Amino acid sequence: MPELARETITDVIARMGLSHTESQALWAECDLSSVPSQVEVLTAHIGAADAAPWPRGMSPNAALLAILATVPHTECWNAGHRVPTEVTEATIADIGTKLRLYGLELTGIDWFASIVQARVFTLGRLQFEVGAFCPPTDESAWALHVPELGPLTPAACDDSIGSAASFFDAVFGDTTTRTIVCSSWLLDAQLTEYLPADSNILDFQRRFTIFDGGHDTDAGDQDVAKFIFRRPLSELAAVTPKTRLETAALGHLAAGRHWREPSGYLRL
Ligand SMILES: CC(C)(COP(=O)(O)OP(=O)(O)OC[C@H]1O[C@@H](n2cnc3c(N)ncnc32)[C@H](O)[C@@H]1OP(=O)(O)O)[C@@H](O)C(=O)NCCC(=O)NCCS
Repeated sequence: MPELARETITDVIARMGLSHTESQALWAECDLSSVPSQVEVLTAHIGAADAAPWPRGMSPNAALLAILATVPHTECWNAGHRVPTEVTEATIADIGTKLRLYGLELTGIDWFASIVQARVFTLGRLQFEVGAFCPPTDESAWALHVPELGPLTPAACDDSIGSAASFFDAVFGDTTTRTIVCSSWLLDAQLTEYLPADSNILDFQRRFTIFDGGHDTDAGDQDVAKFIFRRPLSELAAVTPKTRLETAALGHLAAGRHWREPSGYLRL
């Protein structure tokens, strides 16, 4: 890899708050030959309608290096498309946050790829992703994501959702989409058995019309393990619950039940 790219990536790694050890592990990857061409592919897809493909067999570390090397190009594209600096900073910062909280494997490389291709934007409390679809209304939509940034207060959600239309109109030209879809363990109706009606999570639930109630498979359990306990489902045995949600999550699984990942939509 050219020296300049190395310096660029080192700078981005530092900005993401990765430790020296994490950084060393990335550079220790044996085969970095596919990284430059993947940076080109990702860069060519910034702001595009479709997401970039990944080459077969690219190692997770090489893929992450390609992501990090693309960040300056994303920042440049954002600056040229009326994305406010604070939105760019908050959006890019999510790469470091997710790596620290959940790691590369639990997060999945596609999430980071969406960020650097300007498909995801952090608008205040929430994140919005282009390119989603809303089956009940048969129209395009923005996918809504909830980053781990402190309490999910109703006021912060209102502000964030309220800013989406003008943001996307400004950045992508007048968009016709006014629908938001969300698929999340946060929308699981079973949470009403455990949380008070005035909890932030149940307030968030009430914003959505559910069109898929989710299924009793391991997928919802895995999400709960990741987003509540920050570890894989296989490692929950060692956990001591602290909050009432943690207690409820473990009790639910111990009773042989599953958590679900329903999908819902809301109109602006
Ligand atoms: C979404 C989120 C911010 C909601 O947190 P919140 O605003 O505190 O939610 P509530 O007010 O409804 O919390 C009710 C109870 O559950 C607890 N709780 C909520 N989310 C929790 C979490 N992720 N882990 C542990 N406990 C949690 C709260 O501490 C509170 O318990 P307490 O009264 O004993 O303190 C939080 O769950 C979070 O950061 N999740 C990670 C990101 C995520 O899940 N995104 C969706 C991905 S699909």
